[in-house]
Amino acid sequence: MARPLIALLPGEGIGPEIVAQARKVLVALQRHGFEADLEEAAVGGVAYERFGHPLPDATRALAQRADAVLFGAVGDARFDHLDRALRPERALLGLRHALGLFANFKQVCVPAALASLSPLRAERVAGLDLLVVRELNGDVYTGQPRGRRLSPDGPFVGQREGFDTMRYAEGEVRRVARLAFEAARQRRCRLTSVDKANVLESSGLWRAVVSELAQDYRDVELTHLYADNALMQLLTRPTEFDVLVTGNLFGDLLSDAASVLTGSIGLAASAMRGDGPRGMYEAGHGTAFDIAGQDRANPIACIRAAALMLRHSLARADLADRVEQAVAQVLAQGLRTAEIAGGAHTVQVGTAAMGDAITEALG
Ligand code: IPM
Ligand code: MG
Repeated sequence: MARPLIALLPGEGIGPEIVAQARKVLVALQRHGFEADLEEAAVGGVAYERFGHPLPDATRALAQRADAVLFGAVGDARFDHLDRALRPERALLGLRHALGLFANFKQVCVPAALASLSPLRAERVAGLDLLVVRELNGDVYTGQPRGRRLSPDGPFVGQREGFDTMRYAEGEVRRVARLAFEAARQRRCRLTSVDKANVLESSGLWRAVVSELAQDYRDVELTHLYADNALMQLLTRPTEFDVLVTGNLFGDLLSDAASVLTGSIGLAASAMRGDGPRGMYEAGHGTAFDIAGQDRANPIACIRAAALMLRHSLARADLADRVEQAVAQVLAQGLRTAEIAGGAHTVQVGTAAMGDAITEALG
């Protein structure tokens, strides 16, 4: 790849502050022979305010032209009254669709040295390394029909009702499951598929398709779990998992639950992937307006997202390793942002200082 184009979409809330730190890291990698064009565009509520739409055409076009997208955060309660199509979150959904991204990878690691930060007892999470693969396009997120109406029948006839459709086609299940099997093969060869096949038709299909595909991956040990049980296991015996694969809605819950096992959703990054190398990368937490602009946000997840981007979209695994090592080094030195501050041998630092320290540690 000659000189890749990276689209930076900071969004709002703490989005701009954390993306600024990731930008520093990317720029500093020039010292190690990395050259890229970084172009920024507005997305989410700020884009709505300036251009009347959360995903302006120019932003979508930039993302489609780019080799990779680094996404900050969107979501602002001030826009909750707007039509759903104009709310900030719509930008994220629109970008996933425009870029053909159908899988979200969230890797969650808890090195022994950071296990005490976890909401779980340290011995339950020390050494944790799991990957949640979430289908990102289908399910109740996009299934038709959906809407609001007056209930046409049943005990609540005539009352207002809202409805969505949980729906999966087999090809949709197969393509994400294939990525999950491939990922498991690169790891510890264990895959847990999560569904609700005891209740839902779409889950019954999900389970059947994943089981069929397992024939192509006889070296991977496949287990099926119901979603409620999977969440319980995640909170009690998380180290038992290697790779999990699940649908859009269950994955939304499971990936946040998994990432908070690290002690902060500001630590684990996610990659959104499709068929080709192009992907979108994000910290995957919210806009946290309560701390925005105060130099309190943790930029680590966003910097790790940049590392995932280097690895998966830009074919620079060497630089991705370098960034991961820099993050590990800074955490080992005891630097902590506010939400994980405290404890012996630690120093609390702000967003920018954390970004600077990681940039420095790149060598
Ligand atoms: C996520 C978010 C989004 C989702 C929202 C903001 C649309 O929660 O990326 O997990 O539900 O997919
Ligand atoms: Mg979510």
